Amino acid sequence: MRILLLGKTGLLGSDFFDLLSLRENIELFAPSHRELDLLNAAQVNAFLAGQFFDRIINCVGYTNVDLAETERGRCKQLNVQVLDTILSHRQPIINFSTDYIFDAPVGTSIREDSIRAPLNYYGETKKQAELLLEAYPFSWWNIRTSWLFGTSGKNFISTILEKSKTEPSLRVVSDEIGRPTSARDLAKFVIEEFINKTPEKGHFHLQNTGDPCSWADLAEYVLQKTGSKTTVHRISSDSIDRPARRPKNSVLANTKMLRQMRPWKEAVDVFLGRD
Ligand SMILES: NC(=O)c1ccc[n+]([C@@H]2O[C@H](COP(=O)([O-])OP(=O)(O)OC[C@H]3O[C@@H](n4cnc5c(N)ncnc54)[C@H](OP(=O)(O)O)[C@@H]3O)[C@@H](O)[C@H]2O)c1
Repeated sequence: MRILLLGKTGLLGSDFFDLLSLRENIELFAPSHRELDLLNAAQVNAFLAGQFFDRIINCVGYTNVDLAETERGRCKQLNVQVLDTILSHRQPIINFSTDYIFDAPVGTSIREDSIRAPLNYYGETKKQAELLLEAYPFSWWNIRTSWLFGTSGKNFISTILEKSKTEPSLRVVSDEIGRPTSARDLAKFVIEEFINKTPEKGHFHLQNTGDPCSWADLAEYVLQKTGSKTTVHRISSDSIDRPARRPKNSVLANTKMLRQMRPWKEAVDVFLGRD
């Protein structure tokens, strides 16, 4: 199989890169940002012309949710226009989307066919990307996920671990409910279910499973597991001033696949063990 991985240095892309590099039956193409600037459509077209990949895995994105409110042009370019350019080459694509396209009431599970209602500009661009996919007549799989953590770059868990070294107490939001997802688990699951197999095209919800939690619950779990004396001061999302609004509910239900990912606590334990 010939696979093109875009965004191999990112939080999610780096786990795909590690796992796919080990596979002997896969010919992996993973250009870096320097080797292939996806904002340069002429470069992308020259690279893709005349080549066929069994899968393009698109882990590129503009993911700074707050900065996206002011850097709208760049956010739209990376999240929408880049995808549009790639789709013009008519190849099977695995794309990633987010819980931030929804605004569902707390206590409900968000299904693959739930109504999209993004609260921020990042979510709006991810919704626009989904609309492009829905109009794409070739193979596409759009994986919606949330609250990723992994070994590449900063994420919520690594921030909590870092801050707990110096801070006796951390203020953490307790009214946004979701489930964290291990980038390594997600990449492994996607390889097994969307590369080794070819399901019908469409949107899919993939999160680690287990009881939903708030960011404050997750911070407490991490601090308790690492034996830290730092405590969590629970705050409401309204009490902090952030440019982008966030949904209160990020609980995604995987109603389309027989297999589910493992519980998030198991994935966090593994992550903390190897950190
Ligand atoms: N992180 C989350 O919690 C989360 C949650 C839900 C969904 N998602 C989705 O999952 C996907 C991956 O997210 P992520 O957090 O792994 O992203 P990320 O860590 O921000 O990584 C983005 C990747 O895009 C590359 N990139 C940026 N601009 C580029 C350009 N012009 N040309 C080529 N490459 C470029 C970056 O390379 P350089 O670093 O070299 O620039 C990096 O490898 C995105 O679609 C995101 O919306 C993420």
